Amino acid sequence: MAENYLTLNPAAAIDSTMEALDADKVVLVTDRNVHKIVLPLLADSKIVNSSPTIAITPGEEGKNLETVTEIWDKLEESGATRRSVVLNIGGGVVTDIGGFAASAYKRGLRTVNFPTTLLGAVDAATGGKTGINFRGLKNEIGAFHMPSKVIISATPFKSLSREELLSGYAEMIKTALFSDKEFYLHLYDLDNVVDDMPKLGKAVEKCVCIKDDVVAQDPNEKGLRKVLNLGHTAGHAFESLRMGEGNPVTHGKAVAHGILVALLLSHIKLGFESYELDQYRRFLKAYYGTSLMRCEDMEKVVNKMNSDKKNRTYGEPAFTLLQEIGEPEINCIPTQSEMKEALELYIDMTS
Ligand code: GLY
Repeated sequence: MAENYLTLNPAAAIDSTMEALDADKVVLVTDRNVHKIVLPLLADSKIVNSSPTIAITPGEEGKNLETVTEIWDKLEESGATRRSVVLNIGGGVVTDIGGFAASAYKRGLRTVNFPTTLLGAVDAATGGKTGINFRGLKNEIGAFHMPSKVIISATPFKSLSREELLSGYAEMIKTALFSDKEFYLHLYDLDNVVDDMPKLGKAVEKCVCIKDDVVAQDPNEKGLRKVLNLGHTAGHAFESLRMGEGNPVTHGKAVAHGILVALLLSHIKLGFESYELDQYRRFLKAYYGTSLMRCEDMEKVVNKMNSDKKNRTYGEPAFTLLQEIGEPEINCIPTQSEMKEALELYIDMTS
């Protein structure tokens, strides 16, 4: 498992990590935006300055097999060996695809991740899930490949838009909801955390520690790791609905809304307190806006949840729900009418 830490000097942390890993060569994978905006902030790193670098197409568009081949070409032409390390500097797409390319090259090179987005720092860069999109399906091909180290710094967050910060923040709220009520109440005061970089950095570090702990106990998502999916069954359905309508929302915004659906189901099935539900609804409306679906989208959204790739059986979505904050329950399968009831309540509460 990777040892994670927050650093105030990312350039030095990258150099010392590579020295500790005794890498004979480092190949840097990034994307063209990060190359322009974030790499200059790491100008003091000998490794960043001197390593062969590939800057891939930014965004989901570049998350495919062709890009993996480009990364393999770069590793080949750089003379990478099994002692080499792939350094992924970027958001979730870069750490996913760079990790996947490394997992298969010469049957597995070590990776170090330096996430440059809040979403990447609190989720994608940690835990070893890597992959690419295939035939229109997100993360359809992939592998579990644990990074040797994840270096986290708040430095790149300064260049993120409010929308990108809020997207990552949704995964932080999710983490707090399944693990720690006091932490949830701390994060609930979003402006106070987001507008204060040291505070945000500390909160990120706590989220990464919580995720690391979960992943250490269940690296291949056989059970406990499913707590990390809180809000994602409805969240993925909303994300795909809005994408299909040509009106996409960020992953985090979809998850923030998916969490309310999960809390409504938690209320219906497990007696989750209604005042906690209403408290979360107020947070959602304040920072993530109104409903992502209309009544006429009901069948589409239910179908998407029925065919979620995390389900073991079609039509039986396995939700992660909460008995109370900090008390998650995995593999909860609501009836079709409970799902519709939760979605109707969600629309009513957020319209
Ligand atoms: N993104 C959830 C996980 O890493 O399991």
